Amino acid sequence: MKETKEGYPFLMACRRKPTPYTPIWLMRQAGRYMKEYRGLRKKYSFLEMCKSPELVAKVTLLPIEKFKLDAAIIFSDILIPLEPMGVEFEFAKGEGPVFHHPLREMRDVQALRVIEPEEETSFLMGAIQIVRKELEGKIPLIGFSGAPFTLASYIIEGGHSNNYVLTKGLMYQNRAAWNALMEKISEVLIRYLNAQIRAGVQALQFFDSWAGCLSPADYAEYVLPYSKKVIDGVNKSVPLIHFATSNSTLLELMRRAGGDVIGVDWRVDIGEAWARLGYDVAVQGNLDPVILFGPVSLIEKEVKRILDRVEGRPGHIFNLGHGILPNTPVDHVAALIDAVHQYSSK
Ligand code: CP3
Repeated sequence: MKETKEGYPFLMACRRKPTPYTPIWLMRQAGRYMKEYRGLRKKYSFLEMCKSPELVAKVTLLPIEKFKLDAAIIFSDILIPLEPMGVEFEFAKGEGPVFHHPLREMRDVQALRVIEPEEETSFLMGAIQIVRKELEGKIPLIGFSGAPFTLASYIIEGGHSNNYVLTKGLMYQNRAAWNALMEKISEVLIRYLNAQIRAGVQALQFFDSWAGCLSPADYAEYVLPYSKKVIDGVNKSVPLIHFATSNSTLLELMRRAGGDVIGVDWRVDIGEAWARLGYDVAVQGNLDPVILFGPVSLIEKEVKRILDRVEGRPGHIFNLGHGILPNTPVDHVAALIDAVHQYSSK
């Protein structure tokens, strides 16, 4: 939906300003559920796509051409800044990311480089500039990064993990290496996010996807200071969305780490989450991505339930509680967006 006289509804909601309807965008909105995306993936690998400004721009705009979304998110991955830091990985077929030399000790931390994002991830900054021109006057563009804990977990585990034994092992048993690693990643992320702002993004999302594996005490001690450092180090000219999954026990601590908007997953009631967070911060969420498999009547019922729980308070951005899943029916995505706009229209 288009910019109104007052500004873009998505950006107004991030700042808790009243909007004519509740804005919506979807995590992983450009992805495998779209046949146009799958078509491109037959020709290019995922990383090839991420490194071509033209392809990044094209893929970013795919869902925007199809749906009435209120924001675009630049097509990339949270792992992109790791390669220039000296971390080697690949996306193995059907397995997700696989790292060749998982980090084990202080020496490995010392070998990591602090990057110059404008030079070493110039493809991303170039893509942001292209997309901004295409979207001018239509909808705003979101940039993003992973958060230090989630990125550290990939570097240490060597891929996705169920129990984070190696990550927590380093955290508990080698505090000096843990601190040095989190410090270095934080420095890279401050540079990387500020470079995206200079390139033109109008909001940021900070993905701490796997922080929900931590106890509140461990999050507070080993993770919060670094997330806070990054958020404090990012230029305040654009709003920042702080997101994690399985985060219902961490909400107050995430709030303390910072962000203009806190992402809420579906395991917690969004009304209760907002009351706990306080109404001086905006919230994003929180439909279970599986609801999109339908039927449409279920999607509409869940949309109403979530909108009723936030009681029309300014500062709610509708989203899923996590990324849209492969095989999600495309017409159900359109039905979701229509339902949100329709039921929330004032
Ligand atoms: O939201 C968007 O549409 C922007 C693009 C985006 C991608 N990844 C594209 C992608 C964003 C914001 C991400 C973030 C990301 N990447 C996260 C945090 C968000 C989350 O889901 O919690 C994480 C943990 C990653 C790491 C990652 N990238 C994994 C584990 C995988 C493999 C598993 C999977 O879902 O395929 C990826 C690959 C990836 N990132 C794909 C896309 C579209 C699929 C690549 C393909 O095979 O085509």
